[in-house]
Amino acid sequence: MSRKPVKVGIVGLGTVGAGTVNVLKRNAAEIASRVGRPIEISHIGARRDNPNCDIEGIKVSRDIFAVAADPEVDILVELIGGTTVARELVLQAIRNGKHIVTANKALIAEHGNEIFAEAHKQGVDVAFEASVAGGIPILKALGEGLAANHIKWVAGIINGTGNYILTEMRDKGRSFADALDEAQALGYAEADPTFDVEGIDAAHKLTIIASIAFGIPLQFSRVYTEGISKLTAEDVEAAEQFGFSIKHLGIGKDTEHGIELRVHPTLVPKSVLLASVNGVMNAVMVDGDAVGPTMFYGAGAGAEPTASAVAADIIELGRALTADHEERVPYLGFHVDAMSTKPVLSMDDVVCPFYIRLHVQDKAGVLADITRILSENSISIEAMQQKDVDDGQAVPILMMTHAVREADLNKALAEIAALDTVLDEIVRIRVELLTA
Ligand code: HSE
Repeated sequence: MSRKPVKVGIVGLGTVGAGTVNVLKRNAAEIASRVGRPIEISHIGARRDNPNCDIEGIKVSRDIFAVAADPEVDILVELIGGTTVARELVLQAIRNGKHIVTANKALIAEHGNEIFAEAHKQGVDVAFEASVAGGIPILKALGEGLAANHIKWVAGIINGTGNYILTEMRDKGRSFADALDEAQALGYAEADPTFDVEGIDAAHKLTIIASIAFGIPLQFSRVYTEGISKLTAEDVEAAEQFGFSIKHLGIGKDTEHGIELRVHPTLVPKSVLLASVNGVMNAVMVDGDAVGPTMFYGAGAGAEPTASAVAADIIELGRALTADHEERVPYLGFHVDAMSTKPVLSMDDVVCPFYIRLHVQDKAGVLADITRILSENSISIEAMQQKDVDDGQAVPILMMTHAVREADLNKALAEIAALDTVLDEIVRIRVELLTA
């Protein structure tokens, strides 16, 4: 290959950094054939070496900002994580005219609008496929493969740790805490596992997916976020009995009045493919007006699955380096001056069916009071089950409702909770039927 190599600077040599070095080196010849020029790792910025990759012959700096300042580097690959130093590094590299590849979902979700504005000013690209669902090329699928569609909704299992925990609770009857301990021991969880179990990690990823699907600016602070830490084995089992599995979903929907953006535990019918995505695996369903429902499945984390996405971005940029900047795929799939101004909806305006669990006193008229309140608020019940009395006092009542506006359900549940006969906190979990 006679053409000049594309020079890459990699910052951060942890799990994904080492995976990226290994994939780029192992598949160098094939990658060069795909790009039309060799990809050369010319500079690594890392506080320490990583025994899991061979970096012999590559220039290494302990000061990571030296990579951003290196005039040789065409593409800076940011793999350090976090949002403070990473933001500074990326902005500096952009101001030095470098294209950026990053796997950092928090950085893009929280500072992407600022980063893209700077990149636009400098005429460089920012690619971040690896920031969402690891090896699954969901952003390229939305921004390119499905670009002819009006995207109606997306729904994804986009946190492997949470999915692993829910699968263990369902299949082995394990407690939440016990399953989380194991997920941490297996190395799936984020450094701070509350990011996984409280839905923050998934909210970062949903923010990015939604921008590319619906053409809205990144709006992390507008994502409704609810974790899985309060789920009990009782609810997981009850959902199964109603024919549903509980999954922790990131959901984005384009409705007439605005965009729904929400991360929460969700009952999905067992017959839907997404309900069978188990363990640490990720999957994203996309419903486009032309293509219909599609599903993208694969490893959402890990050294080489994530490196697969990082390297694909490097390849894409390598190809684009010969094309005019204005003509390349835009940062969020839509052109900067053609973004949608549709608002993100308040959760009050979200409409979906609900699973509800109440513990009530076992006496005449209790059920009548509850159904009266539901009916006064125009809430219709799809199915109901009263479980055997466990302690002679509290009787669990399990219900599935028809679709209801969240504000109406909240009003009804507040009235029900105020009844003397209703014991304990009422559990409610949203349902998504995931049909086209
Ligand atoms: N902690 C994340 C997960 C890793 O469990 O999916 C990938 O972002």
